Amino acid sequence: MKTMITGIRPTGTITLANYIGGIKKFIEQQKEYKSLIFIADIHGLTTYIEPKEIRNNILDITALYLACGIDLEHTIIFQQGDVLEHCNLGFLISFQCSVGELSRMTQYKSKKLELAKTDKDMGLFIYPTLMAADILLYDASIVPVGEDQRTHIEKTRDLGERFNKVYGKTFELPEYQIPKIGAKIMNLQNPKVKMSKSAPKNDKGTIFILDDVEITKKKIMSAVTDNEGKIYFDPERKPGISNLLSIMAVIDNLSIEEVSDKYKDYTYKDFKIEVADKVSKFILNIQDKFYKYRNDEDYLKKVLKEGANKARKLASKKMDEVRKTIGLKL
Ligand code: TYM
Repeated sequence: MKTMITGIRPTGTITLANYIGGIKKFIEQQKEYKSLIFIADIHGLTTYIEPKEIRNNILDITALYLACGIDLEHTIIFQQGDVLEHCNLGFLISFQCSVGELSRMTQYKSKKLELAKTDKDMGLFIYPTLMAADILLYDASIVPVGEDQRTHIEKTRDLGERFNKVYGKTFELPEYQIPKIGAKIMNLQNPKVKMSKSAPKNDKGTIFILDDVEITKKKIMSAVTDNEGKIYFDPERKPGISNLLSIMAVIDNLSIEEVSDKYKDYTYKDFKIEVADKVSKFILNIQDKFYKYRNDEDYLKKVLKEGANKARKLASKKMDEVRKTIGLKL
């Protein structure tokens, strides 16, 4: 059976975009693969977060994974930092990599100016090698992610391939799985930029899964659109309406053509009312389950501990193999 893996950084509050890009597809397929889903807590440290906040976010994501439908019979949930092999392999993988190529990674280029001010941009710089290790360590074939992670998965493949060339076939090379609809959900107020969980909590353009639904409805009703008054999908010319159509398609499990056709005669206002209604119902359903899990921290910690034990078993076996291959194991 092939392996599937994905992860989320515990930075900020989970958004509808994270669900669509990183969780939905994973959950739909979890029984078809050996499935692992984790909280990328070490990656989360790229920018400083209060220890109290990161701890809280880790528990939030765990509860949310469960509320969204992660099935512990089939899927291993764990914290990246609980499985030290991730960092160990990340270091070994870095030997396959050049400073030049890491400095050309999109994420590094876009955030380095901000981080350079703190003089602490090394974590961001080596982010891709740790991410490659997250995936190669489990010989994952499939990695469901949003569009923004494409280059990271491509880099993971490259690095795995280089390692295999030098030492002989050691790692499975992964494929990304980017959703056909909703690969890049945009900010409702500025549909030219992606919806991000690092947005301030009061950001009107970001749908946080744990927001009060009345707030969510208001955000959707005030989403930026255009003056044309016609509903159809064209992300270039109509980014706002196209974004709402994508959200609707994902929530309703319809194709873009089907939603576009269904709402083509609606006014923008009536269309937004429909989107607000569907999204709120969807979110309320998740929130209901979320709070049941979140109120039982002991259970969440137990889930993470058991998950880490299972992941560690797989990871340490792979690291043994890698160390043997490299010549480090006597
Ligand atoms: P992170 O925490 O930024 O995001 C988690 C997931 O949400 C997706 N996503 C989106 N999808 C659609 N539209 C958007 N606007 C949007 N914003 C975010 C992301 O693509 C991602 O799937 N580097 C990763 C975490 C990670 C990881 C891994 C993922 C670390 N190691 C190994 C997969 C495999 C990240 O920062 O995701």
